[in-house]
Amino acid sequence: MTGFQQPEQTSILPAIEPGIEAKMPSSTSSSKTSLQDSLQNRLLKRAQTSSLRTLTLSPASSADFSSNDFLSLSTSPLLRSAFMTELTTTHCAHAIGSRGSRLLDGNSSYAEALERSIAAFHKAPAGLLFNSGFDANAGFFACVPQPGDVIFYDEFIHASVHEGMRLSRASTGVPFRHNCVGDLERRIEEVVRDEGVRLGKRNVFVAVESLYSMDGDLTPLKEIVELVKRVLPNGNGHVVVDEAHSTGIYGPNGRGIVCMLGLEKRVFARLHTFGKGLGCNGGEFP
Ligand SMILES: Cc1ncc(COP(=O)(O)O)c(C=O)c1O
Repeated sequence: MTGFQQPEQTSILPAIEPGIEAKMPSSTSSSKTSLQDSLQNRLLKRAQTSSLRTLTLSPASSADFSSNDFLSLSTSPLLRSAFMTELTTTHCAHAIGSRGSRLLDGNSSYAEALERSIAAFHKAPAGLLFNSGFDANAGFFACVPQPGDVIFYDEFIHASVHEGMRLSRASTGVPFRHNCVGDLERRIEEVVRDEGVRLGKRNVFVAVESLYSMDGDLTPLKEIVELVKRVLPNGNGHVVVDEAHSTGIYGPNGRGIVCMLGLEKRVFARLHTFGKGLGCNGGEFP
């Protein structure tokens, strides 16, 4: 297996995408005009392919059938008042801003206590807070898999996992058919032929969502956990579960599907977002 190949660079200028060149302005009047023109062309191209996105505002009186605020907690007077109490009592001993990266001056006993309490709630040994669920997935998959490791991912996995894999040191990312344990097994068996994988020297990650938002279907998590244990008996198979859509909804007190199935000790890591069922924003990897 080889690492992700970087194209050989002969120039510090990136290549121009085919089709864009023809639309580039011929005059070199000013760089501002040139940038405006190329951005305008981009927008035009997006409009032509129906992929132009714009910001919208819903009328205040509309009913919410589409946001991620599944439980309407973001507008709950009870949650608002609990939040205000927390801010003005327990939290008032702490700074309002982070004052820097957590690796420098931005860490706090408050953040550490929060991480510990969320991890304990999900019956996990530890947890790490992130600014969003997207950042959590991107950060995890960028940093945890190491060179030589392999990531298998459900073909419907969220864009944030793709972003993490794009930045990852892992050698290979392999999709498997949505929710298909048989296809996952066939694909893992292909890499088990590699001695490093077979002997447990190279790690194998399996990325799934506990509940997929498009069709509302659950992943066959028990079967996946059992498959990974059976085909990778040396402990180098790691199941990573994105609980974005099940947090707050499934499991005891909304702990998610891993807790609902009692698989806390059998999955490697879970993502819980705060920006959906919990009505806030941020995320944690317990
Ligand atoms: C499956 C899944 N994972 C992760 C995320 C990212 O979560 P957040 O909105 O907290 O950035 C989303 C958000 O759409 C999601 O649907």
